[in-house]
Amino acid sequence: MYNSKITGLGYYVPDNIVTNNDLSKFMDTNDEWIQERTGIKERRWIKEGSEDTSAVMGAKASRIAIERAGLQPKDIDFIVFATLSPDYYFPGCGVQIQEMLGLRTVGALDIRNQCSGFVYAMSVADQFIKTGMYKNVLVIGSEFHSGGLDKTTRGRGVSVIFGDGAGAAVLSRTEDNSKGILSTHLHSEGKHAEELTVLAPSIRHWVPKLLEENDENDESYFPYMNGTFVFKHAVVRFSQAIDEGLKANNLDVSDINMLIPHQANLRITQFIQKKFKLSDDQVHSNIQKYGNTTAASVIIALTEAWELGKIKDGDLVVLAAFGSGFTWGSVIIRW
Ligand code: UT7
Repeated sequence: MYNSKITGLGYYVPDNIVTNNDLSKFMDTNDEWIQERTGIKERRWIKEGSEDTSAVMGAKASRIAIERAGLQPKDIDFIVFATLSPDYYFPGCGVQIQEMLGLRTVGALDIRNQCSGFVYAMSVADQFIKTGMYKNVLVIGSEFHSGGLDKTTRGRGVSVIFGDGAGAAVLSRTEDNSKGILSTHLHSEGKHAEELTVLAPSIRHWVPKLLEENDENDESYFPYMNGTFVFKHAVVRFSQAIDEGLKANNLDVSDINMLIPHQANLRITQFIQKKFKLSDDQVHSNIQKYGNTTAASVIIALTEAWELGKIKDGDLVVLAAFGSGFTWGSVIIRW
């Protein structure tokens, strides 16, 4: 049986830095509140007029990942693209990557699992490689949040958290079963779908109805989050996803060399770190700089940790995520 391993990593974030103080110029918020509740100091928001979109940023991150894998675009056999902020309502961003990178007419799949999107995408890619169907799969997480946020005081509980950016990994076939993706674990609980959601447009709330109502106070276009409720579930599900992944491989918390949690909130990460008694060296956080980039956050953090030399050959790396759906999951990797 084949195994899959990460052969290339890349990320891209827009240049435009938006600090907490910048936000306080157009909504009633402040640096102290944001840092105390979330750990975020600044985030990247695409500047108006920039060429960047979720697909464009995904392509930029992908070019780096493909080059680092020592491959050419023609070597990619399949694309998995995770985003909640696609360039079009449909089609998905995956097909744009096929065009932008000049790939063969390979299959392209979009994943709609929000903050867990990259973990889901890795799992899908892993299955395609393990079955022997593909050799090199390009896995992307990319988000352009800033264009769709409610940047008034009404939206402050959500808008201060989210940032723009993209990351990509190349997952390749290997016959060495001691290294690579050991296992992936995926979950959902749809009864909480409306605790973290964007309601419109959708078949319950189509555009003609929105236009007919023409209500400028309609909040359904903007992300809604029941923050405290989501927070409480996040700490439980993150823990379960990590435990499940370790148990499946007869491993223990002490075996973890690097935990890359979805960067939802620094308080959530610190809770998990404390619960599992992990040292600062065993957990990578970059939410301070980039905010929560949902489907891009795990891959940006993984790439950054790797670039900083924090991940070495033979290390046990755990990716874990939780988010809208609710969905959650983990990926257990022997580097
Ligand atoms: O990535 C997917 C998963 N997402 C998450 O895991 C996020 C989970 N949730 C959270 O991270 C936190 O719930 C938040 C950071 C979103 C909010 O923190 P909180 O401690 O739960 O605050 P809260 O929503 O209970 O609001 C507390 C107070 C409220 O004022 P009152 O009602 O106590 O007077 C809010 O109106 O803080 C107010 N508030 C703000 N004040 C200044 C809310 N947002 C802001 C803001 N600036 N940006």
